[in-house]
Parts: sequence; C-alpha cells; structure tokens
Amino acid sequence: MVLPIILTGPMGSGKSSVGRLLAEQLGYRFVDLDALLVEQAGKSINRIFAEEGEAAFRDRETELLASLAGSERMVLATGGGAVVREQNRRLLHALGLVANLTAGVSELAQRLYQADDRPLLQGEQPLEARIADIVTERELFYADADIRIDTTGKTLEDVAAQLLVFYTERCCPKP
Ligand code: S3P
Repeated sequence: MVLPIILTGPMGSGKSSVGRLLAEQLGYRFVDLDALLVEQAGKSINRIFAEEGEAAFRDRETELLASLAGSERMVLATGGGAVVREQNRRLLHALGLVANLTAGVSELAQRLYQADDRPLLQGEQPLEARIADIVTERELFYADADIRIDTTGKTLEDVAAQLLVFYTERCCPKP
C-alpha cells in the first residue's frame, strides 16, 4: 500500500503549489480537491457558495473525500476548510499521511491580497484580521496532523524537500 500524502492548511499556505511539486518529484498523481469539486459541480467556488451556500459546498467536499478512499500514489491538496468537519478529519487520516502547512498571518495575507476566488475572504473585515480569525478558529483542526511545517519565508522547493524527507521516512518506497 503506497499511502497518499495529504496537505491541509489555511488558504495561502501553499497546499496546491507544494502539492503539485511534490507529486512531480514522487511520480504520483496530484489531486486538488477544490479543482476536482469545481470540475464536478461545473461552476466556480464563488458560484457554489453564492448559489448553494457554504453547507452545500462542505457536503460536496465530504462526498469527494469519501470517494478518494483507498487511493494510492497520490498527493492530495485539500481546501482550507476541509479539516473542520470531524468526519473529514477521519477520512483524511484513513486515507494517508496528513501534513499541515502553516504560515504567519501577515505572510498569508500578502500571498492572498489579490485573490478574488475565496468567498470567505470577501466582506468588510480587513484581510489580515479575517485570516487571523480563520486560523485561530481552526488551529485545533490544523494541529491534527502527522507533521506540521511552517512555510513562512520558505520557497516551494524548501517545503517540498521537507515533506519528501518526512514522507520517505514514514512511508513506503523511496522515490
Ligand atoms: C476555503 C478554502 C479554499 C476553498 C474555499 C473555502 C476555506 O481552498 O476550499 O474557498 O474554508 O478555508 P484553499 O485553501 O485551497 O484556498
């Protein structure tokens, strides 16, 4: 069994970019949960939130995660809120090794300040304060991981290299 590696973490923590790079290095399939969800829904995340609401988005997320059970040789980048439901956290741990990416709030805000595809960041509240609230609310869920990596000031390559060491020590074949 060649376990997947699953990336969790707040918006802007680098899950998709690092995940894509790591998958390439391992020769694994890269799955971006948000991208898969958008493809299956046939509409953007902004539209899903606007037309169906956040709860429906979360249901779609859970359904997709469940459908990935038993996958092998995969790097999975989750959406930032996927860890909030207990059922999802159980699915993630059953699926593979869970790596949580973190970063300081001001760096997350810098990475996200031009993003217009994150419905949870829209609204009146200043970006950095909004991100700080989200990160604080979810800290316990993000902490529920096999490894945590602070990506502040690091390149994608640095983070992927750290993950590769962890993964090859904890898991299956040497790439
Ligand atoms: C969300 C994060 C987003 C996306 C949706 C909700 C969140 O994914 O799933 O906008 O609740 O934090 P990224 O973390 O990939 O931006």
